[in-house]
Amino acid sequence: MIDLRSDTVTAPTPAMRRAMAEAAVGDDVYDEDPTVRSLQERVADLFGHEAGLFTPTGSMANVLAVSLLVEPGQEVLAESRAHILRAELGAHGALAGITSRTWVEERGRLDLDAVRSLHAPDMGPFFVRTAAVSVENTHNFAGGTVVPLADLRALRTWADEVGVAVHVDGARIWNAHVATGTPLAGYGACADALAVCFSKGLGAPIGSMVLGSRELVERARVLRKRMGGGMRQVGVLAAAATYALDHHVERLAEDHEHARLLAEACGTDPDLTETNIVVVDVPDAAAVVAAAAEEGVRVGAVGPQRVRMLTHLDVSRSDVERAAKVLASVLA
Ligand SMILES: Cc1ncc(COP(=O)(O)O)c(C=O)c1O
Repeated sequence: MIDLRSDTVTAPTPAMRRAMAEAAVGDDVYDEDPTVRSLQERVADLFGHEAGLFTPTGSMANVLAVSLLVEPGQEVLAESRAHILRAELGAHGALAGITSRTWVEERGRLDLDAVRSLHAPDMGPFFVRTAAVSVENTHNFAGGTVVPLADLRALRTWADEVGVAVHVDGARIWNAHVATGTPLAGYGACADALAVCFSKGLGAPIGSMVLGSRELVERARVLRKRMGGGMRQVGVLAAAATYALDHHVERLAEDHEHARLLAEACGTDPDLTETNIVVVDVPDAAAVVAAAAEEGVRVGAVGPQRVRMLTHLDVSRSDVERAAKVLASVLA
């Protein structure tokens, strides 16, 4: 089976497993795991932030970050298909008491005019106040779209003027960085808090991180523990993430090239495939998923008429060429 359902299906490589086995560890609830500490410092430096906090999942990193920027009863603005609103099972409302409103942008990008018109300033005990804007980079359900740095900078400038915080869901920010050459610190400078994942394209089995000021990250540490996310000797997991940063960032360019091949085979405009995600509109998504599976290719349905496929570390060029043939014939 060639599994294109997600870039989270990768297995740790033998070298990554060795790095995990050899990791120095300590009790991370006491903040004494040296491998976790050095990963947190390294990633915070990469993004130009003061501190980072290792979390088990991207969903936890997002809910910690957003709930430190938005108080219960306030709102976050996000694009209509944002992962934080569509695929985190209501955590931001259910666990953090946050409300939301959305803008719609076909490719999942920021629409600053829409954000401006949605923005609700503090009007005392009458209206919900907008406390943060969340941007997903790259945007998962819109097809791996990159949010341009210039747009993020414009958002930062406006957000500072009106006193709103900026959250970036950077589960796949590594893909945006490799696709555009934008330094990670450039993205970091636009955000008050970011969530980044090591368990997507980077190929680690688990692990994400919240990034922000020292003060924000210390508050995140308390919230993480409250949510049951305090972890002990997780240097073994941070070692996988460290290995991924050393070896699996630049190679994302291959995944992007592979995704373009799939987009072409599916008859979509390859220029719309900026990173490692291809979304295709079809008459019957379930039928396409079943027909491709019969031929040994797994793709996912992300709507009744939309299928999604992702390239990753565990699909080779020859796998992608075979998958392209199968998909071209299924979609013909
Ligand atoms: C854009 C985005 N943000 C956050 C997440 C959440 O990550 P996790 O599955 O580790 O909770 C995902 C997962 O696919 C994602 O695509």
